[in-house]
Amino acid sequence: MAIATSHKQAGQASIEQRVEDLLRQMTLAEKVGQMNQVESGGDHAVVHLRHAIQDGHIGSVLNQVDVEIVNELQRIAENESRLGIPLLVGRDVIHGFKTVMPIPLGQAASWDPDLVRDCARVAAREAARSGVNWTFAPMIDITRDPRWGRIAESLGEDAYLASELGVAMVEGFQGDDLASVGSIAACAKHFAGYGAVESGRDYATTNVSENELRNVHLRPFKAAIDAGASTLMTSFSDLDGVPATGNDFLLRQVLREEWGFDGFVVSDWDSVRQLAIHGLTENDAASALAAATAGVDMEMAGGAYIHHLPKLVEEGRVDEAMIDEMVANILRVKFRLGLFENPYTNPSDLPAIADEHALDTAVQAALQSAVLLKNDDHALPLSVERLSSVAVIGPMADAPYEQLGTWIFDGDIQLSVTPLQAIRRMLDGNVEVRYVRAMDTSRSRQSDTFDEAAAIAGDADVAVLFLGEESILSGEAHSRADINLPGDQAELVRRVREAGKPVIAVIMAGRPLTLTNIVDQVDAILFAWHPGTMAGPAIADLLFGIESPSGKLPVTFPRMVGQIPIYYNQKNTGKPPSPDTIIHLDDIDPKASQTSHGLTAFHLDAGYTPLFAFGHGLSYARFEYQNLRTNASEIRPGDTLQVSAELTNTGEVPAEEVAQLYVRDLVGNVTRPVKELKGFKRLRLDPGQTIEVEFRLHTDDLAFYDRNMQLVTEPGEFHVWIGGSSETGLRTEFRIVDSD
Ligand code: BGC
Repeated sequence: MAIATSHKQAGQASIEQRVEDLLRQMTLAEKVGQMNQVESGGDHAVVHLRHAIQDGHIGSVLNQVDVEIVNELQRIAENESRLGIPLLVGRDVIHGFKTVMPIPLGQAASWDPDLVRDCARVAAREAARSGVNWTFAPMIDITRDPRWGRIAESLGEDAYLASELGVAMVEGFQGDDLASVGSIAACAKHFAGYGAVESGRDYATTNVSENELRNVHLRPFKAAIDAGASTLMTSFSDLDGVPATGNDFLLRQVLREEWGFDGFVVSDWDSVRQLAIHGLTENDAASALAAATAGVDMEMAGGAYIHHLPKLVEEGRVDEAMIDEMVANILRVKFRLGLFENPYTNPSDLPAIADEHALDTAVQAALQSAVLLKNDDHALPLSVERLSSVAVIGPMADAPYEQLGTWIFDGDIQLSVTPLQAIRRMLDGNVEVRYVRAMDTSRSRQSDTFDEAAAIAGDADVAVLFLGEESILSGEAHSRADINLPGDQAELVRRVREAGKPVIAVIMAGRPLTLTNIVDQVDAILFAWHPGTMAGPAIADLLFGIESPSGKLPVTFPRMVGQIPIYYNQKNTGKPPSPDTIIHLDDIDPKASQTSHGLTAFHLDAGYTPLFAFGHGLSYARFEYQNLRTNASEIRPGDTLQVSAELTNTGEVPAEEVAQLYVRDLVGNVTRPVKELKGFKRLRLDPGQTIEVEFRLHTDDLAFYDRNMQLVTEPGEFHVWIGGSSETGLRTEFRIVDSD
């Protein structure tokens, strides 16, 4: 049925030329068909979709990972539709495919763009074997709210870190050449503001000022687009009264006019029709009109476009020229993917699933993402030589599914190696390992085996508690209002503590937790997020000192939920708190007058500091920073400042440290944060070794959106820090002075 079309034999013609030629041949129905993405219908996809593909009514399918079926769908598109336009095959490949990497928030804790790029590359290659040519990742929503279940999928609270790592993910998925085997199109999501949902309740409203939107939430998207991200997905949420899927300010003004994006925008699942549920439109036809006019090129599920856009064009309410532009955006990506040359997948062209490289990458990522939050009296690492028995306790010690985390449609649980398995293998009969699960799930409220857990702890030299959240407790639509360890875990900690032996907590979770109620009950806390397939080997290596922990928090850990949002790059306020202006409510003198203390920005029951700060993470080595300096005390617009410090490993073991560069712009046309991350470097140092850590700061790196939404770098005084977290570090100053 397919007619011989010039776009197939286009030879050297440019992609723009080929897009134009093809568009010229398309009927309105075929154009709108390209804008329609449908759920594939599982095993029945071919029967289910054949006619619609033949008629040119489908531009993309999602959620089909059977390569035979995908190839057959592509064959129908190529040979049985009039114009032979190949399909985009989308899937949520969020943190691995069969081989599961740490959740994105865990990967962010590695502060290692090269590693994050490798993780995405492995995922892309595994997914590509199934015929997937488009992933709905990376998710680069900035969030300061650990209640939000989707924080697990995010790269944390900071726009700079999320930009660097989001770009690395885009590069990993797309490779150097989108058309090469093993490259898949990336999708930066969710545009925009989703991470600011009120009270962390998924899908809730967001109200973000334009200034904060531009200075914080939009920055990773701009970076992803500059790195060549092919597509963007809108957010489900309402942004300042206009749901993102109908938001022309975001999709036309910012994305197309200011940033010049030439890929395409897909809605989120059924979010076009949801415009009516939001109360923006009256019905599906009006929703299709609003979304298309706003700039949503493709509708994911829902069918409002396919059912209503043709009529809206015929009635003159939608200009066909606008449809042409949107379809061109979609076709451009299909051409860039090389789908017109070859839409088929031959799995044997790609590396095997879970090959050595994939598993090594998964181990490395799990190793680098674990954050040592506390380590009193060198409780860790454990010494195989000095131990005769270890008690392994808790619901996450041997939970092959739970360690994988959220969004693992395709993750292969059979590949999981649990911490219990890895510890047994490592100790190999030389040290006795006794195990009590103690709780069926992380949420259980049953304490009947706590006695047994306490007993094995009492008999052992050390108790290692594997705590946290099962994977179902984070992710989409899985927000929590209370982010303590769920179930009876705190009680389990207390009971094991009573046994009197050192207690090590390894916590696997999809979000920061409030750990105030257990932090003093344990000697060390290793926070491993959901580490993925190779959780076990990585955690065993860390516990026994084969490797030193090197992860750093990509998000602040509050003491209690009432502090949220609490984040490092807050504003100073007119009444900044300090240790001597705060008081705890238990210490208030009943006779004191209302004004005799306080009058600064703190909570009477929580103070103003977090439990663990952004950037925090301990090591088995000790790192000291010295001799911070800049190569100039004044620079002019356009100049680059060099900022450096000496970093020494004064400990006894080789280890990696993430050196962090922060800046404060003291006075601005709009108030500036008390600190902003501007650079970081992961460095490996041997004991006794000193390295000169050098950062280069261009004045453009100090730019921000002012009150007129202009991107400006203002003259004035700046503070600059280099250190091992947002809380520590050496400080110096410099000035930007006017050019004249
Ligand atoms: C999520 C998206 C995801 C889509 C497709 C939606 O519910 O919000 O992030 O890509 O489903 O599975």
